Amino acid sequence: SYRKKMPIGTKKVPGPMPYPLIGNVFSLSRNPHISLTKMSETYGDVLQIQIGTKPVLVLSGLETLRQALIRQGDDFLGRPDLFTFSLIGDGQSMTFSSDSGEVWRARRRLAQNALKTFAISPSPTSSGMCLVEENIIKEAEYLIRKFQQLINEKGEFDPYRYVVVSVANIICGMCFGKRYNHEDEELLSVVNLTDEFGAIAASGNPADFIPILKYLPSSAMKAFREINRKFLSFINKFVNEHYKTFDQNHVRDITDSLIQHSQEKKVDENSNIHLPNEKIVNIVNDLFGAGFDTITTALSWSLMYLVAHPEIQEKIQTELDQVIGRERRPRLSDKAQLPYTEAFISEMFRHSSFMPFTIPHCTTKDTTLNGFFIPKGICVLINQWQVNHDPKLWKDPFTFCPERFLNADGTINKIEMEKVMVFGLGKRRCVGEAIGRMEVFLFLTTMLQQMHFFKHDGEKLDMSSHYGLTMKHKRCQVSAKLRFPMSSINE
Ligand code: HEM
Repeated sequence: SYRKKMPIGTKKVPGPMPYPLIGNVFSLSRNPHISLTKMSETYGDVLQIQIGTKPVLVLSGLETLRQALIRQGDDFLGRPDLFTFSLIGDGQSMTFSSDSGEVWRARRRLAQNALKTFAISPSPTSSGMCLVEENIIKEAEYLIRKFQQLINEKGEFDPYRYVVVSVANIICGMCFGKRYNHEDEELLSVVNLTDEFGAIAASGNPADFIPILKYLPSSAMKAFREINRKFLSFINKFVNEHYKTFDQNHVRDITDSLIQHSQEKKVDENSNIHLPNEKIVNIVNDLFGAGFDTITTALSWSLMYLVAHPEIQEKIQTELDQVIGRERRPRLSDKAQLPYTEAFISEMFRHSSFMPFTIPHCTTKDTTLNGFFIPKGICVLINQWQVNHDPKLWKDPFTFCPERFLNADGTINKIEMEKVMVFGLGKRRCVGEAIGRMEVFLFLTTMLQQMHFFKHDGEKLDMSSHYGLTMKHKRCQVSAKLRFPMSSINE
């Protein structure tokens, strides 16, 4: 039937021979992003494998991804109907559900507007700062004090454990107007679920493709249901409180603004799409979920690279000292004057490629790509890791080298930066990119202006990453020292 539908002149997508029932499951190995990168060297940018009995398209190569996700964006913007995705957010997630038509479009617009209003809008109290900038600067300061306290008490600490609370506080503030302290058990019990979440929601989980697996008793799957239940009940507690105290004339945060939209039953003045309440308010679940794990992972990888490469850490600190000095704290508006810091952040995204694949896509209709016939409804994996390690695009792709993003005169090379694939491309591109970039930049510069991070002599760093939706390194103890007395910052 596949061949019958193929338009004349199109070719069949190449790929390895599948075994009966299991397909190419074993070729995926423990690191599917690496196996599929190797496979793309044999079969090309457009290849097909079979997971279980289901065909899966795997796309690599920057130009091929730009073609599929930007120029043919409408054909490739769907989400597959996967079993694991149906367990996320009661199956109502804007991000993971298979809904990709008008309703998805309207919800995505709502999410974007909510973020604009409660993050990117100017702060009424601080001149020239946006709301989220003001909050990040405060939260980064708390984090540094916490680090300082931990050093005094124990000499070293696991940065991830504390960064996750600070980052969660930013999104929690935007969504619910709430912040937690670093020892809060309620928040910790929710933010510490992400490792297991990421392992199950990872691209290419056989449970999504081999029907029998979802009926077998699996402790991982049971844990996944439990995680999603806990997460949703954490969110619902806030949502219910907000419904009770909602005041039309005083919209406090993202949850309030979504409630307001749901009462008007409209997305905006120009739209006549009607969304059921739960499809609107559930958006806060997507924003909260996407808003802390990714950024925490980015900051945690950053600290690992800084500890592994003290000379790079010193270069950033020298740049900070020269541009900002020690009398005031870093601001977003300093970014353009800090090319080395920006180059470091790009190199962290590229080298770690901690989101090796985007969230899986699927085709919305029969189409062609690079001359190959692609049927409607096929699951599509987008290999971001391959692009970020493609020797055709990068010199010595496995070397960590921020300088690759700098021109000879020390300015930032925008064209090189745009080759890094982290946030996806096109119509499904991350809606939180601007906020994500702000948080990584401000947390990092605030920390590095005041603190120097290091590992005790002789201790080894394990920089290997664990496959998942977001890839993490092993948790690791680091130490730090203040670069100058706290009191010399007068703000
Ligand atoms: C989607 C990366 C931060 C909200 C995505 C995707 C990636 C990504 C790769 C999938 C794109 C695709 O499927 O093609 C990141 C990274 C972040 C980050 C690396 C931080 C460094 C955030 C933040 C928020 C957010 C802070 C919200 C406040 C979302 C949402 C989607 C998404 C809602 C789903 C969009 C859709 O399906 O239409 N992100 N993200 N992300 N991201 Fe982010």
